[in-house]
Order: sequence, then structure tokens, then C-alpha cells
Amino acid sequence: MSTSAADMDALHTRAVAAAQSAYAPYSRLHVGAALRSASGRIYTGCNVENASFSIGGCAERAAIAAAVQAEGQAFRLDAIAVAAFRDDGRALPITPCGACRQALVEFGADAQVGFRQPDGTWLTVSADALLPYRFCFPER
Ligand code: THU
Repeated sequence: MSTSAADMDALHTRAVAAAQSAYAPYSRLHVGAALRSASGRIYTGCNVENASFSIGGCAERAAIAAAVQAEGQAFRLDAIAVAAFRDDGRALPITPCGACRQALVEFGADAQVGFRQPDGTWLTVSADALLPYRFCFPER
């Protein structure tokens, strides 16, 4: 499925809403992600931090977990947008971390990952292009 700027805007709106649910008392960065699966359904996630910092989770992988729970083995990632905000509501342009890139490409090397520019336009890159030389099982 192709992904237009309007599609990305719609995902971004959902990502913004998801960011409101973030639990981020340590970094104070409230992150929301919204993805569209190949089935056309949308799933969202937010970051959930912990006093034991390393067990905190990212918004993108929370959205992927929701999608896999709903669609099972058939889940394929089509497109994703992320939104991040400081405590004061200031939006920050962020890109998925390395671990999330590995998780995204698992479900769709051709998935479109949208980066909203400060002027509102979209820079859209494939998940494949975001993580060259990534880990994979050689026999697969
Ligand atoms: N975070 C995400 O949710 N997604 C990313 O791709 C990068 C970082 C979260 C994790 C942590 O709760 C906070 O942002 C600061 O790293």
C-alpha cells in the first residue's frame, strides 16, 4: 500500500494521542507511535519507563506488540509515524532508536517510516534503508 502525506498525517495524529499516555518520569520525553498494518488497521504504543532504566520500553515496539497481539503471525508493517514531546508540550523531531529499527524491519523491510519535519512536511524512508547490515539469521 502506498503511503501519502495525508496517510502520514493521520498516523501522526494517532501518535500524538498515544504520546499522551506515555509513562516517562525519568527522561521526560513522551513518545507515541502509530503504525498501519498491511491489513489497513492502525495500532498505537507509547514509551513506558522504569526506575530500573534499562527495562523501559519504546513506543514503536509497544505498537508492534499491539499489532502482533491483534493480527498474529500474519502481521506485516506498512507504515509508521512517531511523535515525541517534552513535559512542556514542545514537540521534538525524533527518529526510531536502533533497537526499534531492528524491530520494524522484522515486520516489513519495505515499511515506510515517516519523519515529520519542523515545517510539517514528511521525509519518508524505508525500514530497510534505516538499518543496513542488520542482524538476521543466516539460514533464513
Ligand atoms: N524512546 C522511544 O519511545 N522510541 C525511540 O525510538 C527512542 C526513545 C523513548 C525511550 C525512553 O523512554 C525515552 O524515549 C528516552 O530515551
